[in-house]
Amino acid sequence: MTEHKTDAVTGASEVDASSASSLIEETKEEVKSPWPGPKGMIPVTSGKADDANVHNRAYLDNILVEMRVIDAVEPDLTTEIFGRKYASPLTLAAVSHLNKVLSDKSRKPMQEKARAAKNAKVLNWIGMESNEEYHEIVQEGGDTVRIVKPFADHEKIIGELQLAEKLGAVAVGMDIDHVPGTNGKYDVVDGIPLGPITFEDLQKYVHSVKIPFVAKGVLSVRDAVKARDAGAKAIVVSHHHGRIPFGVPPLKVLPEIKEALRGSGMTIFADGSLMSGYDAYKALALGADAVLIGRGILSELLKDGQEATEQKIVKMNEQLLEMMLYTGIKDTKSFDPSVLRFN
Ligand SMILES: Cc1cc2nc3c(=O)[nH]c(=O)nc-3n(C[C@H](O)[C@H](O)[C@H](O)COP(=O)(O)O)c2cc1C
Repeated sequence: MTEHKTDAVTGASEVDASSASSLIEETKEEVKSPWPGPKGMIPVTSGKADDANVHNRAYLDNILVEMRVIDAVEPDLTTEIFGRKYASPLTLAAVSHLNKVLSDKSRKPMQEKARAAKNAKVLNWIGMESNEEYHEIVQEGGDTVRIVKPFADHEKIIGELQLAEKLGAVAVGMDIDHVPGTNGKYDVVDGIPLGPITFEDLQKYVHSVKIPFVAKGVLSVRDAVKARDAGAKAIVVSHHHGRIPFGVPPLKVLPEIKEALRGSGMTIFADGSLMSGYDAYKALALGADAVLIGRGILSELLKDGQEATEQKIVKMNEQLLEMMLYTGIKDTKSFDPSVLRFN
């Protein structure tokens, strides 16, 4: 596997532009992204203050960890999510459209990611894909959470949710943070209009399936409580790689959301710039039951494929275990925020 430099803002491995450009779909754009992909397809951080990723990175890097080694034992990473057992609380985030970005059409990164998750015995998320593509990806096996966009067309939403249920998804959900476009109107993705989400809409989507529903993109106690009251069984505390300018770091609001949902039995996921097992540890210590890793596996997935992705998961698991052993956390139910010191 190639050694990569890392991007200063996100910590993502930087693939050098010459090798990246041979991988990507023909494009006149110069590749400056740490990920091999056409500009606009793969999010790149601007490094400016209105980019929420900058604040994620700064927030994460300013959380330090004390040691509690006396009586510490080798930890167990096994994690139960939606009543199923996984090898780790790391899950592979919904990173859509990846089958369209490589010039080598024999490669299918979405399928490679699904196989990597299955082999690593972790949960895989799938976002915006057509029903046909979704069907092809889940044929790789492994457990999947299907996230559907807040389309303006509610029948389309319910159709996608119900098909995912039929195809064996362990949960479905919606990235509720993808309503606004950068022009302040409802966004349009691939020519498909998105629309607003009311509390009643959310209730309708939750009750359109029997499997758990996840509200992805919760960044306030207010939305967390509404998601709970609408019947969602889980939330992802997230700003979707910085969709909202100046977005507060998910980990900063996570503890208050955790407190507000106490006793609800809801599963709380978190994501946002978790590029290493050390970052993941901080999210788990702050109250996440499990975390989503998106850009943390993106370079490896796009450049080197399934095996490199699996190796990255192994590496991140090892970092998480290392941190747990240093801090006397014996299993994934025993995380403790009191080990953290805020700089
Ligand atoms: C290329 C790409 C495509 C994504 N597509 C989706 C999507 O279709 N649906 C969704 O809910 N989130 C999508 N996301 C957001 C991720 O699931 C995740 O919330 C976000 O990237 C933050 O995690 P990270 O910092 O580990 O990347 C996408 C992210 C990337 C990088």
